[in-house]
Amino acid sequence: MSSAGGSSRAGGVDLGGTRVAAENLRIGGCSAATTPVERVGFHLVDLARRQVRYLRLSLTDRCNYRCVYCMPAEGATVAPRADLLDFDELVRTCRLFVGLGIRHVRLTGGEPLVRRDVVDLIGRIAAIDGIADLAMTTNAHLLAELAAPLRRAGLRRLNVSLDTLDPERFASLTRGGDLQRVLDGLRAAHDAGFRAIKLNAVVVRGRNEVDLAPLAAFAAEHGHVLRFIEYMPIGLDDTWSGADGQGGGFLAAAEMKNNLVAHGWRFDDAQAAPAAGVVGGGPARYERVHHPEHGALDLGFITAVSDHFCATCNRVRVTATGVLRECLSAPGRLSLREAMRAGSSDAELAAMVQDALLGKVEGHRFAVGEQTYEAMSSIGG
Ligand code: 5AD
Ligand code: SF4
Repeated sequence: MSSAGGSSRAGGVDLGGTRVAAENLRIGGCSAATTPVERVGFHLVDLARRQVRYLRLSLTDRCNYRCVYCMPAEGATVAPRADLLDFDELVRTCRLFVGLGIRHVRLTGGEPLVRRDVVDLIGRIAAIDGIADLAMTTNAHLLAELAAPLRRAGLRRLNVSLDTLDPERFASLTRGGDLQRVLDGLRAAHDAGFRAIKLNAVVVRGRNEVDLAPLAAFAAEHGHVLRFIEYMPIGLDDTWSGADGQGGGFLAAAEMKNNLVAHGWRFDDAQAAPAAGVVGGGPARYERVHHPEHGALDLGFITAVSDHFCATCNRVRVTATGVLRECLSAPGRLSLREAMRAGSSDAELAAMVQDALLGKVEGHRFAVGEQTYEAMSSIGG
């Protein structure tokens, strides 16, 4: 079992005015009933005093697509099946975080819908007392069949990855994806009652800038929220460097905005505040934008590289193999899977998570050349 070390930790942490001595922050000396974090009233907090309120839980590292910015074309590394958290462990993990004050859980992948019997799992997670908001990020390839059962099982919100509306470019960017299935999935999700579905488009220079304006028009027409995501240097291969000759690399949100303005989208409206319920707890910055032909759109930019939001990061990830990943850019040090399989109690697990969180790095350094070689599909999106 691995867990965060603690020997080099600073002298303590000031939690909302209450100084907690360093020795009390270590797991060894305190039972979960008296963790310092509980005594001062916050459940999950790191040394930069960021409160963690949001869990991204990966259900699988497998995917039925191979998006150019996420997975290699061939030879994607996937964990042995036996190393994936099983349903009992996934549910236990959610309970553990709910017990630590988390109310907002997003299920990710790989592609979460390729996990067998995923609807049963959603039902079990949705039934956990204390989960206020259960969401999923999906590529929607299997959504046409699953949207209604997922909704009935208790899933409340959906983010769908969609980088282009051109079928050929879609097949190229996803390396084999079927745009029509995704569009059918979106319709099925709407029919099943999902609203304010968020479309996620990662923008890769030279590959899908041409799709920004069509995506905006499509989202406005269907009442979807649209988020443009800066391409992060994660899971690097030839797409980042452009070495495959098809374009590549990152396009800053400011350039995306200029592109949309050139296509008639107006950002200068007095009613720039997005509609209620659009702004989530996440990093996207939203604006309500307008187009003379397409009307209003709630548009968000995730400026992960050009203007990172690490200082207000409120999330933590658990990978499909049960590794607690405090930051996208840093390998996790606590394996909840190993701890659970070694027989740790809930109280022990809670203390380990709290301790590991104190080691959350201040942030990534993608803008100054840091790169992460693991595939995004293994990290959990
Ligand atoms: N940069 C930015 N976003 C990425 N995603 C996957 N890889 C990257 C990357 N390199 C996002 C996709 C998808 C989610 C699961 O992760 O937008 O919606
Ligand atoms: Fe699969 Fe999503 Fe990664 Fe694309 S971005 S390969 S759909 S996990």
